[in-house]
Amino acid sequence: MIDLFAGCGGLSQGFRAAFDPVLAVEHDHAAAATYAANFGPEHVHQGDIATVTDVPEVDLVVGGPPCQGFSALGSRDVDDPRNALWREYFRVVRAARPRAFVIENVDRFLGSAEFALLRTEAAAAGYELSWGLLLAADFGVPQRRKRAFVLGSRVGALPLPTPTHTRADWVGVRTAITGLPAAPASTTLPSRSVRAFGRTLPGDFRGLDLHVGRNPTPLSLARYRAIPPGGGRFDLPDDLLPRCWREKRTGTTDVMGRMRWDQPSLTIRTEFFKPEKGRYLHPEHHRPITHLEAARLQSFPDTFRWRGSKIEIARQIGNAVPPLLAGAVAARVADHLG
Ligand SMILES: C[S@@+](CC[C@H](N)C(=O)[O-])C[C@H]1O[C@@H](n2cnc3c(N)ncnc32)[C@H](O)[C@@H]1O
Repeated sequence: MIDLFAGCGGLSQGFRAAFDPVLAVEHDHAAAATYAANFGPEHVHQGDIATVTDVPEVDLVVGGPPCQGFSALGSRDVDDPRNALWREYFRVVRAARPRAFVIENVDRFLGSAEFALLRTEAAAAGYELSWGLLLAADFGVPQRRKRAFVLGSRVGALPLPTPTHTRADWVGVRTAITGLPAAPASTTLPSRSVRAFGRTLPGDFRGLDLHVGRNPTPLSLARYRAIPPGGGRFDLPDDLLPRCWREKRTGTTDVMGRMRWDQPSLTIRTEFFKPEKGRYLHPEHHRPITHLEAARLQSFPDTFRWRGSKIEIARQIGNAVPPLLAGAVAARVADHLG
């Protein structure tokens, strides 16, 4: 298979049981380096997708251009620069002639002009499409992450996978992160470096290396202490409220949120280490989740190797397709292709 916009390889991790990646394209140096650490450097093109010239023929292409603020539905302007990456994606599909392709993207993709463009291109190339929203928690991931998936096939209709879990047996945060040290031993990643694609960068890190904390101010700590499980900024007494929240009493309900032990987390985004950005406080301890906890909530195994700075690794984790969800899609595709 080919993995486009591969990031750290969340999709590849889920697909690896059924498909061998023979080309992965990723322009971010640290993300490409993480990918290479886990899947081998030989097939990684660390660079812009537009610079990919040798495209092998494969059974499957996976990936999805990152959202650049989709253009409004109805605007079918073929020259809209936001379409450029979709055109690149489809250029590779046409060259690789896969029997199937898989696209993952944010939910609003399905209502965008880019999706309309994709449908036209796919039909012209002989692919039938199925699409819909998949909730990671419905596939055993301890996270309520909802993403759009589009499956294309030129060997008969390829429907989306059916959920393996229901709300009654969703996996909670506890299953994923219980038992880790309450207080991370360090605020920095171990000092280690590695060379990849001609440059030196921090790594490799795995497991407890990623259980790194932060140094909250006394005010931040007082805020964390005021928030109960399932609570958020509305639980803060007036004297602990930042001015912007005091003046904006509604909306942004999840900021400064605390997780609940027995429910899946909300979506783990790229800044999960900042409690002011979402529901990222540990269910019990007075701190945001660590990188290791975020990786586990994304269903990455502790053996996965990471490269880059704390911020770069957080971006890789938050951008990834949870491998367990990817695995469910992979099983469906493998079954279809036989
Ligand atoms: C949402 S992330 C992909 C996550 C990945 N599918 C996973 O499961 O881990 C999108 C990636 O596209 C990469 N990207 C964006 N524009 C690119 C381009 N023009 N060429 C190559 N990669 C690009 C970004 O660096 C980012 O890592």
